[in-house]
Amino acid sequence: MSSEPSPWVEAHPDHVRIDWGQGVAGAFAALWLADNRAEDRHANGQRLIDVLDLPESVRIQTATVVDGMLHVTFAGTVAPLVRPLAWLRATLGPLTAARPELDRAAWLDGARRVAARDFAWRTYAAVRADAALRGVWLRRLARDGIAFLSEVPCVEGMIVEVGSLLGAVAHTNYGVLFDVRAEPVPENLAYTDWGLGLHTDNPYRDPVPGFQALHVLVASPEGGDSLFADGLALAAHLRTIDAASFACLTRTPVPFHYRSAAADLCSEKPLIALDVAGDVRAVHYNNRSIAPLRLQGEAAQDFYRAYRAFARLLREPRFQLRLRLQAGELVVFDNRRILHGRTAFASQHHPRHLQGCYLTRDSVLSNAALLP
Ligand SMILES: [Fe+2]
Repeated sequence: MSSEPSPWVEAHPDHVRIDWGQGVAGAFAALWLADNRAEDRHANGQRLIDVLDLPESVRIQTATVVDGMLHVTFAGTVAPLVRPLAWLRATLGPLTAARPELDRAAWLDGARRVAARDFAWRTYAAVRADAALRGVWLRRLARDGIAFLSEVPCVEGMIVEVGSLLGAVAHTNYGVLFDVRAEPVPENLAYTDWGLGLHTDNPYRDPVPGFQALHVLVASPEGGDSLFADGLALAAHLRTIDAASFACLTRTPVPFHYRSAAADLCSEKPLIALDVAGDVRAVHYNNRSIAPLRLQGEAAQDFYRAYRAFARLLREPRFQLRLRLQAGELVVFDNRRILHGRTAFASQHHPRHLQGCYLTRDSVLSNAALLP
């Protein structure tokens, strides 16, 4: 039996300092404490007060610890706060410490990787039957950006059933699902038997599709290999070897456009998007759908130099995971991160047929966080 020593608590008029030792300490501001009373939350967890319901200046009178609970009284009419010390300590870490979407492991060495060995790879029956196993699979999908299922029945429409198990299937102008096979009049170059360079899907959409799922119904015995690379790792690599190009791609808005009889979609995004901390949040790369750039003279030259530097990385086989998916295999990948492509195949001899769908980003990550 061991009990944790009580932390050191100090009340100041404008904050409470709590020191747990070993470098773990917090300075909890008076207004922050007044805004975080348990009583001001509904049973469903939602806050019942607005910030203007509190006075602009909140002053602390006392702060004491009783049985692991911090009791704080305030001057004036602000009601006291009672919170477990452990609860306060948990708020010191980043909000997202336990979020699956932030536990990301970038991989640059695609060519060295074996999909069935190095990524989550399970049978559909196992993932469907066991919620805990599905949770582990989804968290690996969130971490690596890509995961695989095998023994998915080769039945048309199965992709929607599998997609609905993993998250929420998005309905787009391509439908709830789309057929990836050579068509006589392709409304998208994906619907040919041509090779496709690495890309992310639908950057002309806002938001872009969160995750993409592709189910192989008929594999091609020759050609039609799938290619994947981790845009996170590639962007980080570009940052290391060519910081100027990286910076240019993060600050240049690129117009993406798609138009068909059923849809006219346009969105402007940088090829490499950063979050507020300056880390790579997303990669948007699709040469097929870049509209004429609104760049003049030197700005255009700078952009093309950077664009070409990134494109060269995307063509390097050493960064690419390459495999020929077999009938009944299904891949899911993070479309804000993982670039995908394929090698050409001969559709007149081999009628390769995949069905795909998009899953909303938040639904997949929610399941990854929620499942045991
Ligand atoms: Fe695609």
